[in-house]
Formats: sequence, C-alpha cells, structure tokens
Amino acid sequence: MKKSGKDYIVFPLDFPSMAEAKSHIRVLGDRVGMFKIGLELFIHQGPAVIRMVRDMSPAGIFLDLKLHDICATVFRAMDRVADLGVDLATVHCSSSLDMLKSAVQGGGEKVGVLGVTLLTDNDGKTLSQGGFQEQFAAEPKKLVMLRAKMARDAGCKGVVCSGWEAAAIKAGFGRDFLAVTPGIRPAWSLTPGDDQKRITTPAKAIAQGSDLLVIGRPIRDADDPAEAVRKVTDEIETALENRVPL
Ligand code: C5P
Repeated sequence: MKKSGKDYIVFPLDFPSMAEAKSHIRVLGDRVGMFKIGLELFIHQGPAVIRMVRDMSPAGIFLDLKLHDICATVFRAMDRVADLGVDLATVHCSSSLDMLKSAVQGGGEKVGVLGVTLLTDNDGKTLSQGGFQEQFAAEPKKLVMLRAKMARDAGCKGVVCSGWEAAAIKAGFGRDFLAVTPGIRPAWSLTPGDDQKRITTPAKAIAQGSDLLVIGRPIRDADDPAEAVRKVTDEIETALENRVPL
C-alpha cells in the first residue's frame, strides 16, 4: 500500500509520565505513522507503555532503547524485545559487526532491528574529542556509511542516520534498507541552542530518500501539536510529489 504523508512521521513519546504521553497519543494517534518509545518513558513504565500505545492508536510502535553491550547481552535483550510486539527496535552500530548480528538474531522475525549510525547531536568536533581519526572528524558521513554497511551486513532492517546521509545510504544499500532520520527541524521551528547538530527540514529529508522522520520537539513544543503535524504532513506530501523516484 502506498504510504501517505503521515505514515512518514514518527513521534517520540519523550515524556516523564504516562499521563503526558497519553494526552499526546489522544491528539496525534490518527495523525502519525508511528510512536517511538524511548528510554525516559520505558524506564519509568516498562512494557505497560507499549500496551497503552497499542490500545490507543493504530500507529506502529518503535522501541528506541539503543542497545549497546557485549554480544550475549544484546542477543538476550533483543530476544526479550521481540516478545513485546513492537515493529522496530534500535541497537548502536558503534561496537562491532558481531554485536549487530546478535541483535538481529535476538530479534528474529518478530522485530525489525535498526542500527544507530551516529547520533545527530554529534558532529566533527565531538568525534575529534572522542579520539576518532581526522578523516571521520572532517567528514562524519564517512563514519555513518561504514556503520551503515556493518548494519546491512549484519541483517538489520535499516539504520538511523541524519537527513544528510539518507541519500547515500539509499543509493548504497538499496531502497528496502530503511533510512530513519531524526534531527528534523521544519523551517518554522528552528530553535537556537537546540542540541541537534546534523539537522534537516522534513522536505529535505524526504528529497534525500528518508523512509521515516523522527520529529519530536517541533511538534511537542508547538502551541498546537495537531496543527504542527498538519503542517509537517503537508510539507512531506509536497516533497513526495516532487521526489525523484529512487
Ligand atoms: O525532534 P527531537 O530532537 O525532539 O527528537 C528527539 C528524539 O529523537 C529523541 O527521542 C531521540 O532519542 C531521538 N534521536 C534518535 N537518534 C538520533 C537523535 C535523536 O533517535 N540520532
């Protein structure tokens, strides 16, 4: 089935309480393609939050725990995630190919595993501070592409990357390999001092071939979140009409 504009939107439930998450699901439940459950709410509520989203909305569920540990632990953790009934779950790419393979084996057929290539609040400066070779600090995209290849080779369903790298990932690893992009900032919502560094607008992310756009604060902090989603959906639909077929 052809995806419509809203199907591209992933809204992160980055809230400290179930009550706040619920009130946003009530407003956005039919307006976005997926809800993302991250560390904050999962640590607070555990699997109950997954059941709550499933009961309240037809949207997909993305469990973003960004696993990163020894292979045996990642396998066992993803094996547990697989029983929670979520569509997508994340693992960091920054350890090893074997860790990524362990995540995919743990997930089995039940959950699509996404590799997190390089967080969008990283840039050349943070890579340099972290001791990365100059070639990666000068061009973080090189590191993202290396890690995306590891994720593909391990059998991941796709990667989390910034909109800046989505086109290269789609070209390099095929249209079925998902490029999921956070760090989305519509032109109307640019907030100075925000922690995200490698940002793109919804239109640019779609033009680059992104499959899913994680959009949090621009929606959450808008005076009218439903209206913010409507504007983003319109922007995505216009960009899809103009997108060169991949
Ligand atoms: O749009 P906003 O910056 O508020 O989105 C924040 C969300 O995006 C958080 O849930 C964060 O975990 C997620 N994120 C991600 N991967 C990144 C950067 C942010 O999943 N590389």
